[in-house]
Amino acid sequence: MLKTPIVIVNFKTYPQSVGERAVELSKTIASVAKEKGISVAVAPQNLDLYRIASQIDIPVLAQHIDPITPGAHTGWLLAETARATGAVGSLINHSEHQLQPEEIEQVVKRLRELELTSVVCARDPEVCKRVAVFEPDMVAVEPPELIGSGRAVSKVKPEVVSDAVKLVREVNPGVRVLCGAGITSGEDMRIALELGAEGVLLASSVVKAPDPRAAMLDIANGITSK
Ligand code: G3P
Repeated sequence: MLKTPIVIVNFKTYPQSVGERAVELSKTIASVAKEKGISVAVAPQNLDLYRIASQIDIPVLAQHIDPITPGAHTGWLLAETARATGAVGSLINHSEHQLQPEEIEQVVKRLRELELTSVVCARDPEVCKRVAVFEPDMVAVEPPELIGSGRAVSKVKPEVVSDAVKLVREVNPGVRVLCGAGITSGEDMRIALELGAEGVLLASSVVKAPDPRAAMLDIANGITSK
């Protein structure tokens, strides 16, 4: 089980986080986590999962898993294969890779069967409430319009974070709530935690930073200063 408060860095398909660059970036994130004593995880592209999980001591999540069971499914992403790479779980329903509600439910169930961590993304607090019924380990609220904007959800739309926390708690207090979109600084991180989130999901501010180590240290300071 991933420890919170947590920073999950989604590598998306940025050129800065592919192949050996994904390994280097993961090393940087792991070293900052160790130095600052914070919990982190990375979500590289599925083809890079094994490369990272086998070389670096850092929890690794898939970016997506398909709602399938083992068998004849060419080109799909199977939960068992993610586990075999060393991944400890997966993002589900990222705004850039959305699923139907019944598919989300199925993937959450498959991950639970395999003792993998599920992090379901949701565009707003109402959707968070709906997906919390599936009992994922975590829900991450991410308003799509702020993704990649550098404008932090915790600052620009704090009510989205606090409402998500409130609604998810009503459905199932065991589901941990993260937030994401535009999280860039330690201050963004600190405010997210103050609003009741147990961590953040972020991408561009670290992956595309000229100095990812400095960017990660800034985010980490938002946890340690709290
Ligand atoms: O999965 C995290 C992501 O969608 C947020 O992206 O670039 O706004 O941190 P970014």
